[in-house]
Amino acid sequence: MSDIRKEYKKVTTNSLAEMKQNGEKISMLTAYDYTLAKIIDSAGIDVILVGDSASNVMAGHETTLPITLNQMIYHASAVVRAVDRALVVVDLPFGSYEADKIKAFDVAAEIISKTNATAVKLEGGKEIEKTIDFLVSRGIPVMGHIGLMPQKINLVGKFSYMGKNKKEENKILEDARAVSEAGAFAFVLEAMKSHIGKIVSKELATLSIGIGAGKYCDGQVLVIDDLLGFYSNFSPKFVKKYTNLEQIVNKSVEQFCNDVRNSKYPTKKNSY
Ligand code: KIV
Repeated sequence: MSDIRKEYKKVTTNSLAEMKQNGEKISMLTAYDYTLAKIIDSAGIDVILVGDSASNVMAGHETTLPITLNQMIYHASAVVRAVDRALVVVDLPFGSYEADKIKAFDVAAEIISKTNATAVKLEGGKEIEKTIDFLVSRGIPVMGHIGLMPQKINLVGKFSYMGKNKKEENKILEDARAVSEAGAFAFVLEAMKSHIGKIVSKELATLSIGIGAGKYCDGQVLVIDDLLGFYSNFSPKFVKKYTNLEQIVNKSVEQFCNDVRNSKYPTKKNSY
């Protein structure tokens, strides 16, 4: 872990804001379980998102929509138990917060009190600003999520980048300003032309965490299974695979099967 990272013992929303002021980039990854969360925390990640992408990569659903509040709480509790340093943010699941701000507060408070995570993330722009303001004013740090919003997949029809024309660009800028004004300490900017990521990051104090939003964002996030090459069902352009765990695991399991079939495992060394 670099010295810069060691300086910030426990990551807080304040230390993240300080990083932006100092021009230091913020790293964020998803995690859904104790074992991986422990590894990525000790490797020095700044923020861990217990994303509703658990619905895809953990449960095999096509969208993020089916995951429930109790399932998010289960994943988030496991992650928080593993983490010493990173700030843990938990996604509010689809259907649990959109209808009204009081319901949103109840759900966010349940997540925070049952998991001990620090913040929640919710998708939406202008339409959700009053909810963000309500949560923040009652003590819950909020990360927004604008641009491509996977919980709105049934409305937009397909996963594609945003900001292809002036109208889309203006909508993203309007959303960013609304979420920032409402008090979100950060927002995920998902799948948009890089110049929009640049404008948002320069103009607003809110931390911009990009996923397919270009290099000018204050930080970057990836789904851990994508980074590790663990999940090959869907691989957007912005994904960088740092290894290919799918192949590595496949090979290891093949070897285990062969060893068992050929009585090469267990050996004396593995026996009592
Ligand atoms: O759920 C998730 O993994 C996310 C990231 C794509 C930012 O929201």
